[in-house]
Amino acid sequence: MTLPGPSAPLYLDCDTGVDDSLALAYLLAAPEVDLVGVGSVSGNIDARQGAVNSLDLLALAGRDDVPVAVGAHDPLVGSYDGGAPSVHGRNGVGDVALPPSGREVTAESAVELLLRLSHEHAGLLRVVAVGPLTNLALALRADPTLPERVLDVTVMGGAALHPGNVTPAAEANIAKDPEAAAEVLAVDWDVTLVPLDVTMAHVFEEADRKALLEAGTALAPWLGEVLDLYFGFHVPTFGRRCSALHDPLAAAIAVGGVTPTVAPRVPVVVDATDGPGRGQTVCDLRGLYAGYPDVPGARTRVVLATDAPLAPHLVERLLTL
Ligand code: BDR
Ligand code: CA
Repeated sequence: MTLPGPSAPLYLDCDTGVDDSLALAYLLAAPEVDLVGVGSVSGNIDARQGAVNSLDLLALAGRDDVPVAVGAHDPLVGSYDGGAPSVHGRNGVGDVALPPSGREVTAESAVELLLRLSHEHAGLLRVVAVGPLTNLALALRADPTLPERVLDVTVMGGAALHPGNVTPAAEANIAKDPEAAAEVLAVDWDVTLVPLDVTMAHVFEEADRKALLEAGTALAPWLGEVLDLYFGFHVPTFGRRCSALHDPLAAAIAVGGVTPTVAPRVPVVVDATDGPGRGQTVCDLRGLYAGYPDVPGARTRVVLATDAPLAPHLVERLLTL
């Protein structure tokens, strides 16, 4: 077992993706954590391309020491749906050709990497998952004792009192593998769910993107380029070029860069039926009029509000890369 150190070991599971790229970079810049592994999963892009994107971003940050493993190509039920090319580009990083890292993915799968890291950092490992939860569900199936060795899990996903973003009820990460999300949220571990209710309230503007483009550092200007297509995607939603900060908000909450101010522990059930609610995160928020007290026995913390805007903090950290 690793002795407690100045920064906590953290495994990132992602479908790298534009906002996943920001989350990965934020975690690299965060002194509070030591990024010890990155797993990919199909979501915004297929799992293999997602891993290549992570390798390329890590190389630009000078972090070729971080292992990157390919995870699940298909969800637990059905097949990969082809991703979201109109949102994240055909390559996941806004159709920007990042300089190839020249590095290979690990021989072990994302599930094997997560399980190995959970033993190497038993009791200390923090998990941040910002894509579909297929890898986490498969890891739990392979080793149901995994939660005993994980300190906490932060998930970008779901919509509590907010509409979905891929169906009226469902958010993309949960919608792409509801069965996996249902399994992950049914397990007894310390999960913080960061849903659309808060991620849509944290936005990057053109001034933030410009700051990255002009950074004069190795990685940040590339992130500014990668954001271009994603800014266009958000015009019908916000009426201007900008972007929601889904995945970096989950990363920032995980490491304490942004603090939840309303985040009750409540029962959360994922709708994995085939009806119109498929992929919905049904959160028991009937405590609304009582100030959202924790529900006794509930494991999942659902973030509904935070103390500060993420964007200035995110820019400050990304400008160091
Ligand atoms: C989530 O879905 C993906 O498109 C993003 O990367 C984010 O993880 C938002 O619904
Ligand atoms: Ca994502």
